Amino acid sequence: MKLLLSKAVTLLCAASALAKSRRGPRVQSVILPRATQNNGLQDIVTWDEYSLMINGKRLMVFSGEVHPYRNPVQSLHLDIFQKIKAMGFNAVSFYVYWGIHEPKRGEISFEGFRDLQPFFDAAKKAGIYLIARPGPYINAETSGGGFPGWGTYTPGLWRTSNTTYMEAIEGYIKTVGAKIAENEITKGGPVILVQAENEYSGVQEPYTEDFEYHKQLLQLFRDSGLTVPTITNDAWPGGHFTSVDIYGYDSYPNGFDCSNPYVWKSDAVPEWFWGAHQGINPEDLHAVYEFQGGAFDGWGGSGYAPCAVLTGPEFERVFYKNQYAMSTTLFNIYMIFGGTNWGGIAHPGGYTSYDYGSVIAEDRTLREKYYELKLQANFLAVSPAYLTSRPQNIYDTQGSFTGNSALKTTQVLDVVGNKTGFYVVRQTDASTNALQTYTLQLPTSIGTLSIPTIGGSLALNGKDSKIHVVDYAAGSTTVLYTTAEILTCLKIPPPVAKVLSGTGTIQQKSLASNSLALQYKTTGQTVVQVGSTVLYILDRVNAYQFWVLHPPTSGPFAHYSTENPIIVKGGYLLRSVSIRGSTLSIQGDLNNTATFEIIAPAASSKSVIFNGNALALSKTAHGTLAAKRAAKLPAIKLPNLSSLTWKYADSLPEIRPGYSDAKWTAADHNSTVNPTTPSTPVVLYAGDYGYHTGNIIWRAHFNATGSESAFTANVRGGTAFGYSVWLDSTFIGSWAGDAVHSSYESTFKFPLLLKEGSGHVLTILQDHMGYEGDWWAASDSFKEPRGIHSYSFVGDKVPTVNVWKVTGNLGGESHVDRTRGPLNEGGLYGERQGWHLPGFNDARWAVGKPTTGISSAGVGFYRTTFNLNMPKGVDYPLSLVVSNSTTNPLYRSQLYVNGYQFGKYVNHIGPQTVFPVPQGILNYNGLNTLAVSIWAEGSTGAKLHSLALQLTSKVESSISAIVNQPLTAWAPRPGAY
Ligand SMILES: *[C@@H]1O[C@H](CO)[C@@H](O)[C@H](O)[C@H]1NC(C)=O
Ligand SMILES: *[C@@H]1O[C@H](CO)[C@@H](O)[C@H](O)[C@H]1NC(C)=O
Ligand SMILES: *[C@@H]1O[C@H](CO)[C@@H](O)[C@H](O)[C@H]1NC(C)=O
Repeated sequence: MKLLLSKAVTLLCAASALAKSRRGPRVQSVILPRATQNNGLQDIVTWDEYSLMINGKRLMVFSGEVHPYRNPVQSLHLDIFQKIKAMGFNAVSFYVYWGIHEPKRGEISFEGFRDLQPFFDAAKKAGIYLIARPGPYINAETSGGGFPGWGTYTPGLWRTSNTTYMEAIEGYIKTVGAKIAENEITKGGPVILVQAENEYSGVQEPYTEDFEYHKQLLQLFRDSGLTVPTITNDAWPGGHFTSVDIYGYDSYPNGFDCSNPYVWKSDAVPEWFWGAHQGINPEDLHAVYEFQGGAFDGWGGSGYAPCAVLTGPEFERVFYKNQYAMSTTLFNIYMIFGGTNWGGIAHPGGYTSYDYGSVIAEDRTLREKYYELKLQANFLAVSPAYLTSRPQNIYDTQGSFTGNSALKTTQVLDVVGNKTGFYVVRQTDASTNALQTYTLQLPTSIGTLSIPTIGGSLALNGKDSKIHVVDYAAGSTTVLYTTAEILTCLKIPPPVAKVLSGTGTIQQKSLASNSLALQYKTTGQTVVQVGSTVLYILDRVNAYQFWVLHPPTSGPFAHYSTENPIIVKGGYLLRSVSIRGSTLSIQGDLNNTATFEIIAPAASSKSVIFNGNALALSKTAHGTLAAKRAAKLPAIKLPNLSSLTWKYADSLPEIRPGYSDAKWTAADHNSTVNPTTPSTPVVLYAGDYGYHTGNIIWRAHFNATGSESAFTANVRGGTAFGYSVWLDSTFIGSWAGDAVHSSYESTFKFPLLLKEGSGHVLTILQDHMGYEGDWWAASDSFKEPRGIHSYSFVGDKVPTVNVWKVTGNLGGESHVDRTRGPLNEGGLYGERQGWHLPGFNDARWAVGKPTTGISSAGVGFYRTTFNLNMPKGVDYPLSLVVSNSTTNPLYRSQLYVNGYQFGKYVNHIGPQTVFPVPQGILNYNGLNTLAVSIWAEGSTGAKLHSLALQLTSKVESSISAIVNQPLTAWAPRPGAY
């Protein structure tokens, strides 16, 4: 019989047998570990060439990237950490965004949403180690790559040892360093590693890698009290910044073209990394500090749903397993939860959502790829042999072990334990969807076996990869070999097997040395007993439902236990278990009826409680516990935003006759240190005047010559920016923006000839899409200005601008709203007045809806309030949803929820129309204020086509109580203009 296994199958071994594993006679060279390394400052986090060790114990560091600043709701960090932990991960890597902590030079704040302590505490509560990445440069698709706005007018080459730059970073690094140091594992905290700089890999010519910068930065880290090992993430395995303790690299091998999510390059799967690692730092573990977990998307892009497909379960199976084929033992997935570019966080290449297509979506729901990654993480978490492994045939994989040149197989052997082998099989051509069948010739402890031993063949269908293990310790028995996620088991007395439950068919054959081969075909779940070991043979759908949870122990690291696993099948998410006497208590989330199967010691599971309620237990055919539990998903009624009463006010009084800009900042600098030389008589870079975010407004006062007929300006705002120009009260045109231009020169005709000598004002409203990154060290590209680079009048005799005025957010770097931070509000009149804040008195405003809008070019501001009354015990994420307007399409809109800007919508560029707003920003049990700005860039005005509040998921949840962030109300703003 030919056994063609087209279904992917996973094995779960629940081994209770006492069978003794036998060491086989396989001969191989053994490499003994070198002496364990540490950095001489502490001895808790150590490492060698195989893995990291914590308190002398090796661990696979399975980490995911999360940015605290992209989730301002401090009480939601625990939810994210628990979801990551439940996936079988044990670590999170995070950036700190200098720009929001020191918005004004010398004024460093870690208050409110900027406080890192709740993030540290939540990690510890979930049992997650932290890898701290405080920069100072972070990139991260963040405005300025993390640099503060004042950096744009600070001289010296940034990201070098230039003293001006070193002085600029010192205060921040010492402050953040001390905060991280207080939370190091050496002090009972979760932080195990700290990264210096970020992708310090490309240096602008004629400069070269600045080793002096490395040295001084590492010294600053030490001076701030940091003692855990230092790391750096080279953008590729290129050997940069190797003076850190544990060098590693980043890789995004499937690229960022989300619009073609099914297209992979044939050679996309990298195999040269191992050789590079051996060449650069063979004495250290193979560490990957960022590996692709999604993709970012920009203005006019495809949206994040296809990015999640590009990097979906198939991608995870092929690309991640290729890293395991290279014995990667520190693996950080970027992003695991992307979050939101709320306020002005985004760089110009990105919009409000930073969903990233990651396993945890922006609304904190779980994608299918979460469940696939859970299988991989749980597998490696219980594979100690992997932690001392080495790939053996890295440059000779094609056709190896299979004889099929369409396949590549890497042999990864445990060279210390001297026994277990991992065989990673994948397509030679990564882009193919072809089905390949194969057999394996594998050396085992009982000699070379042809697998499957009972005949037939194995299959790899299209974009897939499998790991077959040999002489693999599973509990107290040894699995002689498995065929990828399908298992053919195993060496154990007595050699008979029987199906306990399920529809699978099995064949068995006794091999030498008291071994038994099993071969089977299953859909769903089949449970087999071999001696006293029970095997679960699972197809992928069933495998995805299993959770491996560890009851907490005691002491400060109670939640980091990897002992005494309790295995539970069923549920959308199981967060944790605890045992009290004979009662097992499970905390979890359900989105429909769960059929639980519980594999736990009988003595501690006489009764089982789920989210506080006892489960009615029964027994499965094979003796484990079973229970059914329907999700409690109460119905709710959401406010219909279009039927609420909305208030309206004009937010562009600047164009009214008699408007005074006396309180505005005079744009009167005659010089700038900015590397971009201005072509204007006075500097018109908003950053030079302390305005670094949101909308910027310029005012040019001039006396007419009588012959000027038009005004030309080159304005810079970053990709997808726009600008509109008024001559006095008359709209004279816009560059509405597109997905390509970051600067644009346009000429605006005057409607009539002006009277010679008469006074006039040009008002220019421009968008600021965030500062560029500074990826190339010594490039100073983040200093690329926002503002007016050149201007001129058209006419025989042209006027001179007497006075230029500028405003952005009220207060500039001395921003007014200390709750929501320095980037949240921009320079629109309504923002300067605080109209977006709860509690502002709009009683005297007119009635008017954003879905009615305004009928000419300008800016309208809209406010409404509504109540929410969400039930307890659920997690019902909400989004603000707009739809595209095709009539009067040229407009920009900002959505403010309780004062926090959670949506920047550019109707004619897109793509984002769904704006998740987390609980804690939305008040789920009480009053909410929603404010909307509409900037119509076309002469016929604009309106939102529709605006709605929508649920994006319904989950019964054991999520910890969510505390609202301060929803600070409006207060008088002295000096506001
Ligand atoms: C720092 O950079 C500035 C501007 O590029 C340069 O003029 C100066 O000489 C540099 N100083 C040092 C100490 O490198
Ligand atoms: C590994 O195998 C070699 C050669 O067969 C043997 O000498 C050695 O004791 C083994 N080491 C371990 C740790 O099993
Ligand atoms: C529950 O969540 C799973 C995993 O994300 C999803 O596949 C399924 O469609 C959800 N079911 C319901 C009823 O929402």
